[in-house]
Amino acid sequence: MDLAILGTGRVGGALGPRWAAKGHRVVYGVREAGSEEVRKVLEKTGANGSATTVREAAAAAPVILLAIPWNVTREVLASLGPLDGKILLDCINPIKPDFSGLSLDEAPSAAEQIAAWAPGATVIKAFNTVSDATMVNPRYGPQQATMFFCGDDEAAKGVVRQLTIDLDMEPVDAGPLKNARYLEAMSMLYIHLAIFGGWGGECAFKMVKR
Ligand SMILES: NC(=O)c1ccc[n+]([C@@H]2O[C@H](COP(=O)([O-])OP(=O)(O)OC[C@H]3O[C@@H](n4cnc5c(N)ncnc54)[C@H](OP(=O)(O)O)[C@@H]3O)[C@@H](O)[C@H]2O)c1
Repeated sequence: MDLAILGTGRVGGALGPRWAAKGHRVVYGVREAGSEEVRKVLEKTGANGSATTVREAAAAAPVILLAIPWNVTREVLASLGPLDGKILLDCINPIKPDFSGLSLDEAPSAAEQIAAWAPGATVIKAFNTVSDATMVNPRYGPQQATMFFCGDDEAAKGVVRQLTIDLDMEPVDAGPLKNARYLEAMSMLYIHLAIFGGWGGECAFKMVKR
């Protein structure tokens, strides 16, 4: 399918090439098409990848991954054209710059705030509880990392489930979009463990069951 990825940083540069390797066409929305970072990501993405402006990339695909920092999200969304009918994949963690906690002013989660800023779109919270290292390689021995997602639209969740399977991660439906507040809190726990607990980024959450 056609996927737009806004941002070519750690997340965009991890997920884009992997989805392209699965046959998806990935168009990156970037500020500087000629930058070294964009060139490297395009090289990793191969023939299924291209880069254009953020606005054109968002217009070109039915599914848009927001792989940008929280503090620019509102202005980036406002700069896009109509988003009616689009699926917005929100992996954004509204983390304070010193990693000491979440930073939210008006809504209980970034995902719900994004849904309010982009009313015509369907927002799915996804990919925010896994590190970029896990996005590149989600295998831990015989186990797959778990990727939690939540949202209010079953068809859009089906798309995200398949995109997760394409990444070799285990998809777990975490319920309605209002549960994004818990997924964002989980990311804070992950960041605490990775940065202050000495775990680093080569670890992942895993649901187990019997
Ligand atoms: N890294 C992780 O392990 C991880 C895991 C889960 C979720 N996340 C979330 O994913 C998001 C991206 O994180 P990241 O680690 O990939 O960040 P990053 O490496 O800093 O990359 C950020 C990307 O956003 C772009 N960007 C910044 N401001 C922009 C603007 N105003 N308009 C358009 N593009 C803009 C940057 O482009 P330029 O090169 O032009 O600056 C860059 O490509 C964050 O919200 C983060 O919370 C990260």
